[in-house]
Amino acid sequence: MSNKESYHIEFGEVWVRGLRSDSIVDEIKSRVNIVDVIGQHVVLKRAGSNYKGLCPFHNEKTPSFVVSEQKQIFTCFGCGASGDVIEFTKRYYNLDFMEAVEKLAGQYGIELKQFHSGDSQKREQLFELNRMAARFYLDAFTKRANPGLDYMRKRGMDPQTLIRFGIGFADESWDSLYRYFMDQGADVKQLMELGLISQSNGKYFDKFRNRVMFPIINTRGKVIGFGGRVLGDGTPKYLNSPESSIFLKKNNLFGLNLTRQEINKRDCAILVEGYMDVISLYKAGVRNVSASLGTALTENQAAMLKRYTKNVILCYDSDGAGRAAALRGMDILRAAGCNVKVMHVTDGKDPDEFVKKNGADAFYALAKEAKPFADYKIDQIRQETDLSTMEGSLEFLRRVTAVLKSLSPAEADLYIGKIAAESHISEGAIRMEVFGSGLADAREVREPVKPAQADRNGDRRNSANDPGLYLEKNLIRLMLAQSDFIPRMQPYEDVFRDAACRRIYENMKGLYREDEEIDVGKLADSLEPAEIAAMNDILENVKLTERDEDVFVDCVARIEREQLKQREQQIIQMLSLADDETDAARVEELTRELMTIQHKKNRE
Ligand code: CTP
Ligand code: MN
Repeated sequence: MSNKESYHIEFGEVWVRGLRSDSIVDEIKSRVNIVDVIGQHVVLKRAGSNYKGLCPFHNEKTPSFVVSEQKQIFTCFGCGASGDVIEFTKRYYNLDFMEAVEKLAGQYGIELKQFHSGDSQKREQLFELNRMAARFYLDAFTKRANPGLDYMRKRGMDPQTLIRFGIGFADESWDSLYRYFMDQGADVKQLMELGLISQSNGKYFDKFRNRVMFPIINTRGKVIGFGGRVLGDGTPKYLNSPESSIFLKKNNLFGLNLTRQEINKRDCAILVEGYMDVISLYKAGVRNVSASLGTALTENQAAMLKRYTKNVILCYDSDGAGRAAALRGMDILRAAGCNVKVMHVTDGKDPDEFVKKNGADAFYALAKEAKPFADYKIDQIRQETDLSTMEGSLEFLRRVTAVLKSLSPAEADLYIGKIAAESHISEGAIRMEVFGSGLADAREVREPVKPAQADRNGDRRNSANDPGLYLEKNLIRLMLAQSDFIPRMQPYEDVFRDAACRRIYENMKGLYREDEEIDVGKLADSLEPAEIAAMNDILENVKLTERDEDVFVDCVARIEREQLKQREQQIIQMLSLADDETDAARVEELTRELMTIQHKKNRE
């Protein structure tokens, strides 16, 4: 697989940009008049040099939707929708960019092929081979008696549904698919790249044998891969096509080719774990459904779903793996801007079993009760912490706070009373944690909320707006200049939170000899590149003064003040959690400590 090609698939936008420069967009814009296209769906009336009509993207009674023939764009002053003819087609039909381009090109007789690079021609060949394989498996499944069909019927599937999903059967012979392809003159190298054929001891053989075949079809109707289920209890239960230049699991969802309309219509997607769950729900009449391809949900999959709806219900298996996957999937979906709820079926191990027994209405009734993501997470945290101990309660508070912080203040407020009631933590304490600067250190790692952003921006802090980091760098600078600060630093070394600063400090400690300055070259030898960069940054940018001693003393005083403040907060927190009667002794102890701290602070 060439590099370029993998880029095409992984980063749709890059492909799109490449395509743009090939001027397919210009070609479409020059051949297609936006007024004609929109005029097919919206009654447009001339208004000066423009056209006006009722916006198809929101409900309105007086027209605020304007189309400019001159500029070839549309704008709605009511809802803000605007763009060119491709954008209109995308929105109106719920298509992605390429789909919209293809649709317009098809309607207006524009040949897309000339814009395809050699890479995309090869992709088309691979798609075609997969399509032929799917057809071959389908024939084996539908044209003669076979154990695959028996198996699926036993699992309650009807022919209509099976055909809709293109389910097939790979027979037991070692090379029937291989021979078929050789008759057709196919390229064996491409078949191997697709994972349909394998080679061993100079002989070619079919990869999928004696399995029910689930073609994986993207939203453009191309067969990109297969899942093959063993008949009965063999292993592996599912054999999947390997990733290839046309099959990246993280970019696709199973069933979406058939279900996206319904997802859009119901404004809700139900995401399940398995192929069989999708098919079984679909058969029962639950058609706004899809599944990730046996892997954890990805950012790209979340973005795909979001084209059809913002509302996603995760309905994973009720076992531990399913719960863990739901927790992870939730964060990904939230980061993509989705509203997430979670449900687990109550009868049967997975949605397939549930819906077979109870039907679509019962399933939808259960879906209605799905838990909003915050409830689900809080439940999970409750199960993992011991609310009968003070430490447990603090942990509960800390983790729940992280969840609530990711909500809007109004949403968070709804939960605070509830949590206070059941955890015996005062509402005030929780509110302080969520909205104010409480005991949870602002610099502490939060529960993951936006993995996408964290990835892109990295999490390097900037000392210009982070006094804590500035302090750390100052101390490192001082120790580099004068090694006798190193042993004096020891009682306060917890202050190093920044990973690089901490490592630099630890390694300096290792190199420290009395009456010798630190050899910066040696220190660098013991550090990773990123840490060396951090050290150089400190050497260059943190200025020394003539009064190193005063600066050091000042830094230490600040650390002590900070530590006192934190301890004070922590004690206030603990006191708010304590039960006056059962914890009486501890309450007295803490109160005394608190008084000492406050006394000290007042003296300053
Ligand atoms: N899966 C996989 N490889 C496996 C097991 C599972 O790729 N060895 C993927 C498949 O996509 C499968 C999904 O994980 O659909 C969920 O697994 P599981 O719950 O075991 O599958 P079901 O769809 O419930 O399968 P069945 O009902 O046929 O047992
Ligand atoms: Mn399952």
